[in-house]
Amino acid sequence: MSCNPAAANRRIKSYVLRQGRITPAQKKALTEYLQRYAIRAGASPLDLNEIFGRSAPRVLEIGAGSGEFTLCEAALHPENDYLAAEVHAPGIGRLLQGIAAGGLTNIRVIDQDVVVALQGLIPEDALDQAMIFFPDPWPKQRHHKRRLINREFLDLLVTRMRAHGRLYLATDWQELAEEIRTLGDAHPRLWNLAGPGYFAPRPAWRPETRFERRGKRLGHEVYDLVYCLR
Ligand SMILES: C[S@@+](CC[C@H](N)C(=O)[O-])C[C@H]1O[C@@H](n2cnc3c(N)ncnc32)[C@H](O)[C@@H]1O
Repeated sequence: MSCNPAAANRRIKSYVLRQGRITPAQKKALTEYLQRYAIRAGASPLDLNEIFGRSAPRVLEIGAGSGEFTLCEAALHPENDYLAAEVHAPGIGRLLQGIAAGGLTNIRVIDQDVVVALQGLIPEDALDQAMIFFPDPWPKQRHHKRRLINREFLDLLVTRMRAHGRLYLATDWQELAEEIRTLGDAHPRLWNLAGPGYFAPRPAWRPETRFERRGKRLGHEVYDLVYCLR
């Protein structure tokens, strides 16, 4: 994946920024807390030990939405540090509200395209776990190129993860789940813990998020995948 900023700008993005409804409270949270909790891509990778003020296991949530997973896990696991990547302003606002309300010191927000952040911000071998829960599926054939998870993306992500780290994924779209499993199973650095060609049991600790509830309401089955980094 290219590190050239011009090439990065040309890349087809996995999201479309719409003028979604933002509540006054979310707006206030963005004004009051974004500066404090957001970390942004610079010219070189960040020193995460300096940012969090300690050395600790690091978890990245990609497409955190309003932060249901990260807020819950960060409160339950103060021994870990969490990075939550999200581009949708109302979601970021809710996440910031949650961080401030919970007095959580172990979360930082990446309010930009996670691909750009992985390229310029997150150092190599920095992550113990990465989570991608209910990524936008882009189900129409003509939108397939917008899907976040492809071989190029996995190639980049695995360089930011430590050996024996874990990559957790979940989606309620069967076709997307099968596509991700095919990509993951074929990747030389990923080992499907359920066995090649199998989905994993739902991890009991994975909190139900808004998009999982939506999938269930639509009658969709939910598919989990867990990979270990070789
Ligand atoms: C369907 S939502 C799921 C949110 C949350 N994980 C959940 O389970 O409720 C997918 C989210 O991924 C975010 N997203 C998509 N592509 C992204 C990217 N390249 N960088 C950061 N966030 C992205 C979208 O803005 C959206 O909020």
